[in-house]
Formats: sequence, structure tokens, C-alpha cells
Amino acid sequence: MAQILDGKVVAQKVLAEVKAGVSALKSGSGVTPTLAVVLAGDFPPSKIYIANKKRMAAEVGIASRDFLYPGGLSQPELLALLGRLNADPGVHGILLQLPLPGGCNEDEAIAAIAPEKDVDGFHPMNLGHLLAGAPTVLPCTPAGIMEILDHYGVELKGAEAVVVGRSRIVGKPLAQLLLARHATVTMCHTRTRDLAAHTRRAEILCVAAGRPQVITGDMVREGAVVVDVGMNRLESGKLVGDVEFETAAKRARAITPVPGGVGPMTVAMLMKNTLQVARRQLGTPSPQPSPPRWERGKS
Ligand code: GUN
Repeated sequence: MAQILDGKVVAQKVLAEVKAGVSALKSGSGVTPTLAVVLAGDFPPSKIYIANKKRMAAEVGIASRDFLYPGGLSQPELLALLGRLNADPGVHGILLQLPLPGGCNEDEAIAAIAPEKDVDGFHPMNLGHLLAGAPTVLPCTPAGIMEILDHYGVELKGAEAVVVGRSRIVGKPLAQLLLARHATVTMCHTRTRDLAAHTRRAEILCVAAGRPQVITGDMVREGAVVVDVGMNRLESGKLVGDVEFETAAKRARAITPVPGGVGPMTVAMLMKNTLQVARRQLGTPSPQPSPPRWERGKS
């Protein structure tokens, strides 16, 4: 049976560091890092994600301010709101929960967030910095996956990594982070011809396909490390990932569970990003200027 890569444990470690950092920032500057939480629409999973993020912010001492519009917002209203939050020095980070309701233009809205307040790392400028190899703020889920792999000492240099899914939120930035750590990265997606042929080569298999249990045990290489980003509710009510856990765990060396794998990391990294952007805006750089994790092993 595979080793369980426990995201709750790694998230607690990150959150403890963030809590200490927030406390130091508050006592040094008198300022409380503040996150504006923007929700347009009433997509039920978004409400749960937002509740988790707000709860975690409170636990680490980050203030959150709500801008919740369950009835939706027009695109001009949303852009005007983002403009006000950009200009408000009391707001350090802006979380625009996705997806936006139909009628809103996601690309335009993300680009309207000030890059220095973009705690999700989705702004084209921040994604561009990542592509250029000098990342500013990292998208939370991919950054959280890297934390898990590092925590459990997974060797990335030269490893065959396969990423299933090419979203802006996970797949694309994750591939960049793995590449920066010298993995050989293959990206698979809905038009990939023979998905199993690729996944069976993977020493590190990361699945963010958004389809329940699309990866079955027979598609997993013996001894692989499997990271499951999926979160799907079956009709039975059971929560499952994009990987069929029981069969995959028989072949994998290590695997993230759902729930309790990648999910808790996303929220923890959002807190870390909020502290980071607040520090930058206050001119208080990180007290321990250690090289970022994605830089380690660069040569
Ligand atoms: N929707 C699904 N995942 C995310 C995320 O990481 N950030 C935001 N803002 N919206 C999401």
C-alpha cells in the first residue's frame, strides 16, 4: 500500500509559519494583513471554498473583508469594485473567487486586479513572471503541491513528470514549477490521444483533470508518486478525486488522498501569499530571505 502524502500535516506547518509571520508584521508595523474576498454569483462549491478561506484567515490573524454578491454582478460593476479595492491601501490582497457567473469576462476581471494584490497569482503579469523564471506570487494549488513533494522528499530533478489538465489555475503553472525544478514534464489534456500511454510513464503523476476517477490503477506506473488535485462529489454523495484511489494506491509508492491531500494546501498557500503581498506593500520583506523552494536544486 502506498504512503499517504498528508496535505493536512504540511498545511499545518505552512499555517504555523504564516501565523508567526502575521504576528511579527502586526507588532512591527501595526498593520493587519487584509484580504478582500470577492464572490460574484451563487456557485455552491465557491461558497464552501470561501468559508474555508475566511476561517483559515481568521486562524492565522489575517483580516478578511467580504464583497459577496450572490445575485451576481455585471462586468462593469465587478471592474469598478476591483478598481476600488486596488486603490484601497487597507486591502493588501484581492481574492476573486472563480468561476465567475455567465456574462462576466474572467480574463478581463483577473487582469483588472492590481498585480501586487493578486493573491491567486493568476494575473497575466504574475503568470508571465513565472514563465520567465522569476516568479512573484505563485498560484496556490501548484505551489501547495510543490510544498507536499518537498516535505516528503520527492526527488524532482530528472524525474518523468506527467501533468493531466492544462488549466490556468493548476496544470499550466504546475508544469512550470516542475520544469523549474528540472523534471521532464509532459502535459496531457482532453485531446491527448492515448492518455494511459503517457500516465504509465510518469514517476510523478499530477492529475487536475476535473473528471472523477479518470485515472485508474492500471494507468499508474509501479512506484509512482501520485498527486490528485480533483474534488468531485459523486451522485452517492461520496467525495472523490480525479484518481481512483483504491486501485492507484496499490501501484503507487505514494499518493495524496481526497479529501486531505492537495485541498488543505491551496488554502494554506493563499494565506502565505496574502502575508507575502502585505509584506511587500508595507516594505517589510520576509525576515528569512531563504531561496524559494522552486529555486532549490537549480544549477
Ligand atoms: N476556483 C477554484 N479554485 C480557485 C482558486 O484557487 N482561486 C480562485 N480565486 N478561485 C478558484
